[in-house]
Amino acid sequence: MLEQQPRITVVGSFVAGLTLRAERFPVQGETLLGRDFDLGPGGKGSNQAVQAARLGAHVEFVACLGQDDFGAIGAKLYGDETVGTTHLRRTNERNTGVAFIVLDARGDNFIVLDPGANSLLSPQDVEGARATIQNSHVVLTQLEIPLETAARALQLARQENAISILNPAPARHVPPEILSCADIVTPNETELRILLGRAPDEQVDALHLCEELIKLGVLRVILTRGARGAMIVTKDGYLNVPTFEVEIVDTTGAGDAFNGTLAYYLASGVPLEPAVRCAVAAGALACTKLGVIPALPRKSEIERLLTGS
Ligand code: RIB
Repeated sequence: MLEQQPRITVVGSFVAGLTLRAERFPVQGETLLGRDFDLGPGGKGSNQAVQAARLGAHVEFVACLGQDDFGAIGAKLYGDETVGTTHLRRTNERNTGVAFIVLDARGDNFIVLDPGANSLLSPQDVEGARATIQNSHVVLTQLEIPLETAARALQLARQENAISILNPAPARHVPPEILSCADIVTPNETELRILLGRAPDEQVDALHLCEELIKLGVLRVILTRGARGAMIVTKDGYLNVPTFEVEIVDTTGAGDAFNGTLAYYLASGVPLEPAVRCAVAAGALACTKLGVIPALPRKSEIERLLTGS
């Protein structure tokens, strides 16, 4: 019997990413010379949609782009990567979102983002995609769009029996009634604290905060910890999933590779723990190349890293 193609709805952002690299980050008032300037597609929702499609999922992307040249970059990308655009809206009311990204010599980044047209993506847009959500195994959303829009995506996923994943990035405080609609939440350590209304640098045990999320009704928390891999927390306990040693070139988009891959494997019916291992491998691979879209790995690369072949 032929296996069914995994179906994923991503409700999220597209931005044009303007990236350059410097030896170090500038201090206030300083001008630094940089290099490697690149203008290309970005946005957490868009990156995650491309990652899942690249692995073989049927992906529909619910998003709002401007009717401008930057929006055209997104439209071309979805054609090239076979991401479904039935629910992608173009608007004249706002410019396409933009992100300024500065990389340092170690591949770490600073990002400042103007959401632009992403801020017009509304709960009604999500309602319009109800039939698609009904037909999805997984619904994945992030926070570069209005919170009420992400919340509606999680609610509809719950109603329609799809697995709902919230990648709470960029970090913001999310009320418990919204968190409780998420089957899976995937913060990094700073996002975890902010999500729960704590200070970003508060010294508090991460496992304890993950357990707080579980008490609020989240079924599974997957904490991403950079070089320390990921931690899966459920009501039954926790499990650490180590990462892989790779040469870091650019960490931008590693979280997107992780989330898109996690969504793909869960939508394929793979159990949580092996799905997280694949996602950790994808996140590591995404750090090995410059840029986001060129660095999102293919299935063969993930499998090679996992098997050490
Ligand atoms: O997660 C990385 C992404 O965050 C970049 O593509 C940038 O555009 C921002 O949205």
